[in-house]
Amino acid sequence: MDLKHWKLERDAQDLAWLWFDRAGSATNTFSTEALRELGQVAEHLAALPPKGLAILSAKENGFAAGADIDEFTTIASAEQAMAFTNLGNEVFDRIAALPFPTLAMIHGFCMGGGTELALACRYRLMDDGPKTRMALPEVLIGIVPGWGGCKRMVPLIGAANALDLMLTGRSVDGRRAKKLGLVDAVTQKRHFANAVRMLLANPPAPYKPPFMAAVTDWPVVRSLVASMSRKKVAEKARQDHYPAPYAIIDLWKDFGGDVRNIPQSHPASMASLFAHPTTRNLIRLFKLQDRMKAMGRGSPPKVGQVEQSGGETVRHLHVIGAGAMGGDIAAWASLKGITVTLQDLAPDRIAPAVQRAHALYKKRLKQPHLVQAAMDRLIPDVAGAGVAKADLVIEAIVENAEIKRKLFAGLEPRMKEGAILATNTSSIPLQELSGVLERPERLVGLHFFNPVAQMMLVEIVEGPQTSPEVMQAGQAFARQIDKLPLPCKSAPGFLVNRVLSPYLMEAMLMLDEGIPAEAIDAAAKDFGMPMGPIELADMVGLDICWAVGHELQKPGTPIPKKLRENIEAKRLGKKTGQGFYTWSKGKAQKSNGSGSVDLKPLADRLVLPALNEAVACVREKIVADADLCDAGVIFGTGFAPHRGGPISAIHERGKESWLKAMAELRVKHGDRFVPDTGWNAIPE
Ligand code: NAI
Repeated sequence: MDLKHWKLERDAQDLAWLWFDRAGSATNTFSTEALRELGQVAEHLAALPPKGLAILSAKENGFAAGADIDEFTTIASAEQAMAFTNLGNEVFDRIAALPFPTLAMIHGFCMGGGTELALACRYRLMDDGPKTRMALPEVLIGIVPGWGGCKRMVPLIGAANALDLMLTGRSVDGRRAKKLGLVDAVTQKRHFANAVRMLLANPPAPYKPPFMAAVTDWPVVRSLVASMSRKKVAEKARQDHYPAPYAIIDLWKDFGGDVRNIPQSHPASMASLFAHPTTRNLIRLFKLQDRMKAMGRGSPPKVGQVEQSGGETVRHLHVIGAGAMGGDIAAWASLKGITVTLQDLAPDRIAPAVQRAHALYKKRLKQPHLVQAAMDRLIPDVAGAGVAKADLVIEAIVENAEIKRKLFAGLEPRMKEGAILATNTSSIPLQELSGVLERPERLVGLHFFNPVAQMMLVEIVEGPQTSPEVMQAGQAFARQIDKLPLPCKSAPGFLVNRVLSPYLMEAMLMLDEGIPAEAIDAAAKDFGMPMGPIELADMVGLDICWAVGHELQKPGTPIPKKLRENIEAKRLGKKTGQGFYTWSKGKAQKSNGSGSVDLKPLADRLVLPALNEAVACVREKIVADADLCDAGVIFGTGFAPHRGGPISAIHERGKESWLKAMAELRVKHGDRFVPDTGWNAIPE
């Protein structure tokens, strides 16, 4: 057999070892060619059966990441989509039908098709390290687990558990996978070979789920579980915006989990999902995410410690300011394995950050020794002793240029040679801060978003003097801590706040006109925002909205009256229990429904200021191109992912239609609705 992507060996005990090693790629993904070869291997082994088969990956980073997304995105017709789907099913069915024990050895990431191959094996063995994760994340790109994932996972762990994983796309580690029954054993990767030999020498009966899990797939219970799942999904995503989760429920309930049973005309079929604009937009977003990840790789930065440590990025981070942002940035970096010293004016200002960090580690790391190790890496440091040792110093003190400059002037002489200085400022241009520095080229903006643990994006802000190496190091640091870097020019509001701010301000002006908050929020959600702007403003804090809005306000734009009143009365939103809404138990108290208001024109009015600003940002090259503008706004604000971001939303509905709506709004509300000149560059 001539294999490009797989390597097959038989050992002295007549066990077959099949290594997945996708040629020309650092990651295992399933292309048509890789699938066909796997089919050949299955045929060969069926004809000459070994005692058992172990399937493992030759790649450092994981077992397999799923279908080859590049091949996937070139699929042009429903027929091609079905052919690719059928091929995966046929090959995995052949593996499942092998007449001897089969076992998948899983380390690193095991996603989508990787999980589906593992499920086609009789047994699964999983590494217990923190980097090993298993998931069926197809829903996140608008499709269903179509290579037998649904068909095989449900009988293994029960419908309720399987739906939970398939509908959220959530990944599980080895311990959780074992608890669910997804894998038969969990051990460190170095013990894999022994564990395999033991399992295959004495194969136990395949795993069966406990009664309470199995019962959720019984025909009589199925309708109930399906309708409960639909209800839960509907709370999060509308079917016309996100058809895939609904398709997964139908696939399981009505078609035995096998996509080949779904008629092409059914909304859950692969053909229908492929034709849906959401799928196209989500796949594009997935690829953009990859593009942003790649920006963190680049060539190793040539600065100080970075060079000495052989291309490694930051080992020691020093954070100044242990408030909402600094405290959480420090906690996150320590969670990701970096030694962090955290400085503030007094110990009692650092203590709440350490407490929050502990809660984060307990939630994310679970195991006490890992929690302890992360706590040990996070070192309170009022005296600022860490400055001299740090590869990177991040400033997150009060938003005041004078105070920041004073801090920088004292800081720079104490920093080690080659270390990088970063500011988390959300509005001060870097050039206003770098004047006090001997080496302004080593100042970069690292603009995180609140809450740090949940927001993926970090804007890497380039001042006029920031050196390319320092920009690259900033991007690499963002990747080191598993965030998505977005290089931005240092202009007011960078990208995300600049686009978000006029949207929030418009919402508040609508409130001043007497439009109910509930209607404004409902209109935004109708468009596809995860949360309405009034609720979001309350969450962010009205003082922060005020400061950012003030900084970015265009001349002639009115100041929202109710916002000012709330600020004066110290009603700052969620954090004070009262803002535009009253907050109780962490939730905004809303009156039911949005009345008889027509939401569509409200949505246009809300969204257009954001679209207009996004167009301006692309024209001004705040980010490199329109794709990165879309990705930044989605990952920084949650802007309607199914619409593919602001620029994509313009293309989807058509420039002419948006400009017509804008002209009408200008007549009613004035010149803040004048289209930016950047619209001229957008094709009809
Ligand atoms: P905060 O008010 O919660 O925390 C600031 C902390 O800095 C306080 O604990 C204060 O004691 C400390 N501090 C002040 N001067 C200091 C000094 N000279 N030395 C050491 N510590 C000092 O502020 P927050 O919200 O964390 O913001 C910090 C920075 O992050 C600001 O530049 C802000 O614009 C930016 N930012 C804030 C976001 C937010 O949503 N809050 C989002 C993104 C950026």
